[in-house]
Amino acid sequence: MFFHCELVVLILALTLNGQVHTGQIYGGHEAKAHSRPYMVLLEQHTEDGGKKHCDGFLLTEDFVMTAAHCQAKSYTALLGVHNVRDSNGIQRISVKDTFPHKDYNETELINDIMILKLSSKAHFSNTVRPIALADRDDGSLPKLCSVSGWGRNDRNSKYMSLKLMEVSVTLTDNELCRGKKIYCSEGEAGLGVGDSGGPLVCEDGKAYGVVSYTFNPAGGPSIYAYTKIPEDGNQLVYGTPCVCIFNI
Ligand SMILES: *[C@@H]1O[C@H](CO)[C@@H](O)[C@H](O)[C@H]1NC(C)=O
Repeated sequence: MFFHCELVVLILALTLNGQVHTGQIYGGHEAKAHSRPYMVLLEQHTEDGGKKHCDGFLLTEDFVMTAAHCQAKSYTALLGVHNVRDSNGIQRISVKDTFPHKDYNETELINDIMILKLSSKAHFSNTVRPIALADRDDGSLPKLCSVSGWGRNDRNSKYMSLKLMEVSVTLTDNELCRGKKIYCSEGEAGLGVGDSGGPLVCEDGKAYGVVSYTFNPAGGPSIYAYTKIPEDGNQLVYGTPCVCIFNI
């Protein structure tokens, strides 16, 4: 958790008349080891010398996508992880540059999405592979979605999950989510797994969103919000020098 998330909690709680916390979701089950080789465990180094974690996902040999609220002093990307205690075959690569969305609004968590450039190229293998970004947003909700991550998998736990967890989610067209460039899923307590910055993966195995935050509107079920990956996301990563939304 970032110090400013507490602020976010307060402000969004006021705005939405409910409780909010950034992308920590619960439940789900252990993923088959290395079945999601694009998953990145992002070690964040904080100003005070501490360490925290977000998730991210590999887009190319040297670009990772995550949430903008995962910003830290510096980072190490861990690739090829399933069980965080097992360092076998893990690639640790430091992050050289960060490109938060240029219109990221940290009080409202709008455009909560960021690209990280790694300091060296990842070696692709059976356990380290990129994921493609969705290339359509025709207004319909993608189906058969899931999220994964090493986030806390139990409300009573202070610690991250040691193993990658995953859960299926169903996107809904909740009025509280309209006009905010997010996808939303609703859940009873316990639905969902993952940590901020992980991918929302749908029907065709492409990434459609980034796990951003959760809020609890008064009298309703929790709503999980995923930043929509911008339509020009592909251009941003694969195109020639991009002057689009991330100012790379
Ligand atoms: C964030 O959004 C709020 C509400 O739209 C706005 O009042 C505020 O100025 C924005 N902050 C920034 C840094 O753009």
